[in-house]
Amino acid sequence: MPLLSAPERFSGFVAYDRPVATLTTWGVGGTPGCLISPRNNGEIADSLAWLRTEGVSFEVLGGGSNVLIAEGEFPIALFHTRGLCGTDVSIVKNEVFIECGAGVTLRSLFSLALRSGWSGLEFTAGIPGTVGGAILGNAGTREGDMRDVVSEVETVEPDGSVRRWTAREIVWDYRRCALTEVKGRILSSAKLKLAVSSRESVFEAARASVLARNGQPRGVKSAGCVFKNPPGDNAGRLLDASGCKSFSIGGARVSPVHANFIENYTGASAEDILSLMFLCRERVFEHFGVELEFEVKFIGIPMERLR
Ligand code: EPU
Repeated sequence: MPLLSAPERFSGFVAYDRPVATLTTWGVGGTPGCLISPRNNGEIADSLAWLRTEGVSFEVLGGGSNVLIAEGEFPIALFHTRGLCGTDVSIVKNEVFIECGAGVTLRSLFSLALRSGWSGLEFTAGIPGTVGGAILGNAGTREGDMRDVVSEVETVEPDGSVRRWTAREIVWDYRRCALTEVKGRILSSAKLKLAVSSRESVFEAARASVLARNGQPRGVKSAGCVFKNPPGDNAGRLLDASGCKSFSIGGARVSPVHANFIENYTGASAEDILSLMFLCRERVFEHFGVELEFEVKFIGIPMERLR
C-alpha cells in the first residue's frame, strides 16, 4: 500500500515503492512516499498543487552525487529531475548558448562541449551530477564554478508559476546559490553560455583540471567533499590534522586519500555515514574550534538527527 496516491493522470511520471539507493553515488537511500519524475514545467506545477492539497512535503533529487538519503520508507515525495533532459544549442558569433533541462548530466554536457570545441565547462570534467544540482550548489573547482557559465535559469515557483532569471539577478557565493532560499521552488532548466574554441584547447584545460584533482579518491562510492571549506582554510586539512583519516563506522570510512571524502567502503548504511560525518565534525571542533558546515544535503533524515 503506497504512502501516497496521486491522481490517475499522473501515472506517466509518478512511481511508488521505488528505493532510490541506485540513484545516488553513495549507493544509499530508502523508499520515498512516491517518486515524481516530471518531464516539463506543467507536470511540475500539477504535482506541486497536488502535494499542497495533500499536505505532503517534498525534496528534489538530481544526480544523487551530493546527498545522503534516509533508509527505509520515508513519508515525503521525491522529485527526480531525470525527465527534464532536453538540450537545445544556439550559436551567435562566438557565443554558444545551451538551453538544458535540470536533469541533464554535467558529464553529457561536457562531452558535447569537448566534441564541439566549446570552452567554459572544462572545470566540470570528471564531476558527477546534473545541471540543476550543480547550479543550486554552485558546484566548482579552483578553475571555476557554475556561476561562470550560467546565463539564465528557469524555476517553477511554489505557486506553480514559471519564472525566468538572468544570472545577474541571482546571488551566488562559494557553493551557494540564493535560489535555494525559497522552499518549494524547483529549478527546471537553465541556459549556459560557452565560447567557441577548439577541441585541443578544451581537452588540454580539462586535462589540467582533472590532474589538479589527483589527490582525490577515484572509483569509490562517495559524495565528493562532505564539508565546505571554512573561510580561509581547508576542511580536508583540518579533518586530516584531527586524525580523521583512520576513522570508520560500520561500512563507511574516511578516505585514506582525502579526509573530506567519506566512502561507502562495504555496504554502509545511511546511519553509518551520518555517524561518521558527525564524529569527524566533532573531532575538528575539539582540535581547532572550527564548526564545519555540511556541503552534502540531506533527504528524509529527521531534523533532530542533524543537530
Ligand atoms: N589536505 C590535507 N589532507 C587531506 C585533504 C586535503 O592536508 O586529506 C590539504 C592539502 O594541503 C591540500 C589542500 O588541503 O593541498 C587542498 O585540498 P584539495 O586540493 O583536495 O582541495 P579541497 O579544498 O579539499 C576543493 C573542493 C573540491 C574540488 C577541489 C579542487 C570544496 C569543499 N572542495 O577541495 O570539490 O574538487 O577543491 O578544485 O570546496 C566537492 O565540492 O565535492 C569537491 C570535491
